[in-house]
Amino acid sequence: MKKTDKQKTDMQKSDMQQPDMQKVDALVGRLVGDLGASVSGVLVVLGDHLGLFRAMMDGRPRSSMELAETTGLTERNVREWLAAMAAADYITYHEASNKFAMTPEQALVFANEDSPAFFGGAFEIVQSMWMDEPKVEDAFRTGRGLGWHEHSTCLFRGTERFFRPGYNSHLVTEWIPALKGVKEKLERGAEVADVGCGHGASTILMAQAFPKSHFHGFDYHGPSIERAKRAAKEAGVDDRVSFSKASAKEFPAGNYDLVAMFDCLHDMGDPVGAGRHIRETMAKDGTWMIVEPFAHDGLKDNLNPVGRVYYGASAMICTPASMAQEVGLGLGAQAGEMKLRKVALDAGYHHFRRASETPFNMIFEVRN
Ligand SMILES: C[S@@+](CC[C@H](N)C(=O)[O-])C[C@H]1O[C@@H](n2cnc3c(N)ncnc32)[C@H](O)[C@@H]1O
Repeated sequence: MKKTDKQKTDMQKSDMQQPDMQKVDALVGRLVGDLGASVSGVLVVLGDHLGLFRAMMDGRPRSSMELAETTGLTERNVREWLAAMAAADYITYHEASNKFAMTPEQALVFANEDSPAFFGGAFEIVQSMWMDEPKVEDAFRTGRGLGWHEHSTCLFRGTERFFRPGYNSHLVTEWIPALKGVKEKLERGAEVADVGCGHGASTILMAQAFPKSHFHGFDYHGPSIERAKRAAKEAGVDDRVSFSKASAKEFPAGNYDLVAMFDCLHDMGDPVGAGRHIRETMAKDGTWMIVEPFAHDGLKDNLNPVGRVYYGASAMICTPASMAQEVGLGLGAQAGEMKLRKVALDAGYHHFRRASETPFNMIFEVRN
């Protein structure tokens, strides 16, 4: 017997799983928090750029009028920003005096650029994701990718400011000593290449720690190289640090004792080609240090708060960046050790070892 349209629709409806309204409530509840976090991120960037956090760094309670006067801003706008930040618990409200203050912990996270917990730069990266979202849409449609250089400037600045605290905390004291014989070479005087150096935060930090060594930063992004040159001058290390615009497959040979790559191998279209070029440019007993975002090998194991941030950045920035270059491997920011080991072995190396790690980074030692 032929079924009527109504019977068919009723059958389809009964096949569909009915939503559990308690689970819907729980998901919506979680999303209110997530939505608040997205909105707060914009206000963090605003407060960072306008110097509002820095003006409150000393922890002294202030009225909106006092803060507006200190920063030269409009009181009504400042008052609303303070209320929003107090609602986020990023700034503390003292009801009795109707004043606002930052606790020492809040100051470390939002105001003190030198602190290991500084988060200002992180939200500038997110700012670039929002600004560049239409370009990423296009990349998804065409498959052509979106080059690092095609993003908004806040990405480059945010990356430098977000990554630097981690390098300050771990690079010289933990990561380099974890590589066999490298610290000793750098102390004696070595040649070092920092490939994909961006604004050169890692290059300059290493130069400050090892005054007998020479450092050469390379990046294919010209404006980043210009910024790195200025930073080296400001830090007073430009006599031992050079920065040049060059891709990872073409930077000049230098018999390097150490070639470092900080959070950029997965952004490259041809990481294997880059690895081969490094083999040709480095000393026979040289070391290739690869610093990559922390990740497990299996997707399921990366479904956690850190993986959430990294997969998001990877979908919006890293994977399209790699796809925009030749080969377009698209490793992704959560590649994991197994895939990274394969890149190194395919490039002709025989030694690959995880030398160190933090909750955010994995550090690999690669040698011939
Ligand atoms: C996430 S950023 C990391 C920058 C820097 N290493 C840091 O830790 O602050 C990735 C960098 O890789 C650079 N990059 C991407 N592909 C490259 C390539 N094929 N050759 C050289 N640099 C490249 C980008 O220009 C960008 O500066």
